[in-house]
Amino acid sequence: MDSRAQDRDLTATVHNDALGYPVFVADDTASELRGFVRDRGDAVIVLCDAAVPVRAIAARVAATLGRAPVLPFALGEAQKRWSTVERVLDALAEHGVERSNLVIGVGGGVAADLFGFAASTYLRGVAYAHVATSLLAMADAAIGGKTGVNIRAGKNLEGTFSDPVAVFCPIEALDTLPYRNVREGLAEIVKCGIIAGGDLFEALENVSPHPFWRWPWVELVAAAVEVKTSIVAEDRRESGSRALLNLGHTFGHAFERASSYRISHGAGVALGLRAAGLLALRTGHFNESDHLRVLTLLTLLGLPMQTRLAPDVVLAAMQSDKKKRDGKLRFVLPRAIGDVEYGVEIPTTQVRAVLDCMRRSPEDEG
Ligand code: GLY
Repeated sequence: MDSRAQDRDLTATVHNDALGYPVFVADDTASELRGFVRDRGDAVIVLCDAAVPVRAIAARVAATLGRAPVLPFALGEAQKRWSTVERVLDALAEHGVERSNLVIGVGGGVAADLFGFAASTYLRGVAYAHVATSLLAMADAAIGGKTGVNIRAGKNLEGTFSDPVAVFCPIEALDTLPYRNVREGLAEIVKCGIIAGGDLFEALENVSPHPFWRWPWVELVAAAVEVKTSIVAEDRRESGSRALLNLGHTFGHAFERASSYRISHGAGVALGLRAAGLLALRTGHFNESDHLRVLTLLTLLGLPMQTRLAPDVVLAAMQSDKKKRDGKLRFVLPRAIGDVEYGVEIPTTQVRAVLDCMRRSPEDEG
């Protein structure tokens, strides 16, 4: 991403929310991290994604904390599996990590899910904090206590609910990412905008024509964090309204899986938001003008809107969705921007029709 940050808001924003742990969003969160670790007084070990830019951030985190050990792991969707967790657990044991220690993970969504999972099972659970280095992790994966890995049967099918003790979102980390990675991460913020409506959706519409370096990133990420934390605080273990956060995800995960993960999570969610809108429109839940507003925003943000995947392949991938009830898929569908419903049962014929439509560009809709 373009690192010209002269217009960027450098003010730290701290969310001390009903979740019981803080989420720090600021251009640079080093002082918050230092203060947090000093107050706890625990020994620290740092786990990080081995990708070069993340390693550099992890080295800075360790230096900030006075030379904590840093253990890098090659991570990607393909490594998000039990064998990697086992290597992390072995490494924690080899380094003599004790139950009173603090494990800090540094990286994007895969790192948040996988390191959080390892920490939640090591010695039956050690304290875990995450430094999010991707937009996806800042706006979604690092917050809310869902941890886990993929198994052969599907995505995130093995895992725990285990809250971190703190989350740090240093916006400057986005400067180290390829443009595409930041852009695809925006899909989770758009999702929050559709759920919450109002200021966040309008803010995204207002900034979307401008280059990234002019965006008020701290405010946008903090607003998405606010949406996520308020929903999670009401329903931590997803027995009801937390399902709202899966808007676009039933389709999105299926697109990811059906493409053997060539479609990234952010791209899958973007495609999933269009598909959920189409499904809601077809079944009389949504209105045309809000659907067009969402499509226009996604298009202006340069997010993918079309996939060549065969509907049957995507439908097969959907069968592993962990949110199924009584063997039936339930969808999260928009009724309007700012009004989203969950648990909606839809006949497969309608889902197939939407998947057919996803093979065409939005201009050919209708
Ligand atoms: N990513 C959806 C959730 O945390 O519930």
